[in-house]
Amino acid sequence: MSIPIIIDCDPGHDDVFAIWLAAGNPNIDLRAITTVAGNGRIEHTTHNALVACTVAGIRDVPVARGASGPLKGELRPAEWIHGANALGGPVLPAPTIELDDRDAVTLIADVLTASEEPVVLVPTGPLTNIAHLVQRHPELVSKIEGLIWMGGSTGRGNVSPYAEFNAWADPEAADIVLRSGVDFTMVGLNISHQALITREVRARIAALDSPLAAFGVELLEYFCSTYEQFEGMPDGPLHDPITVAMLAEPSVATSVRTRIDVECEGTQTRGATCVDLLNFLQRPANATVALDLDVERFWSLIEDAVTALGRVSA
Ligand code: BDR
Ligand code: CA
Repeated sequence: MSIPIIIDCDPGHDDVFAIWLAAGNPNIDLRAITTVAGNGRIEHTTHNALVACTVAGIRDVPVARGASGPLKGELRPAEWIHGANALGGPVLPAPTIELDDRDAVTLIADVLTASEEPVVLVPTGPLTNIAHLVQRHPELVSKIEGLIWMGGSTGRGNVSPYAEFNAWADPEAADIVLRSGVDFTMVGLNISHQALITREVRARIAALDSPLAAFGVELLEYFCSTYEQFEGMPDGPLHDPITVAMLAEPSVATSVRTRIDVECEGTQTRGATCVDLLNFLQRPANATVALDLDVERFWSLIEDAVTALGRVSA
């Protein structure tokens, strides 16, 4: 039986691959896509989610627009990595899919309420929408089977010495969600930097030889070029789809139960996820943290999904 999920995302190059993996893997039942501001302004991330579905032939999944900024402070889009429209690189086709009339929180609440089985939430951007959801609908927390988030890090950050972008973009939201009682899994930079988009990976995807694969390679080339320019990494990391891969095939990664606290104050460390792997604080574990990725298996899952969707969308 496939696992029902909702992706809450800020596409974003790697978010697009998370959507494709969810739609193209037989173990996953993608029930909805919601958008949040993060990598780009909400107009861009929402447009890009519709583009991601259009090019992949994903027509039966509702897409709804969410929060236009964090709970506190200003939106600071990751234009240096993802470009001015959050999806730099390929020419984007006009979406042929209509945006759902509902806002993101309403769509998530409706899907949770209507579902007979509990649903897994897969946020791959700042946790703003999910914080709004648990605050507005605490009665629905029990309908959430779990939440697997790309964000945070067990070590160093990528926007400040200790903060990862999605956590840094809305630390208060991450804190609220962690405290909400949802079964929380963190897929941080410590594991996502194992999913490197090497030249060989790009060649493997190009060899799938479909318009979708070609579009995907253009995304990957752009993403790698900005990672090289701004992070000194010529093979950028494909962070977000690791979340979906772990649901589709749990053996793709190892993980550990531990304690996470989000730094919402710190003068140097706002947005840091303090992951107490060595149990210094002696506080109860409140999360699962992903540690090691089966890199070869991960890329095979991506290839298989792009192959499956490429057949339908060609
Ligand atoms: C995260 O931030 C965004 O740039 C990516 O889409 C990913 O979700 C990595 O820090
Ligand atoms: Ca993202």
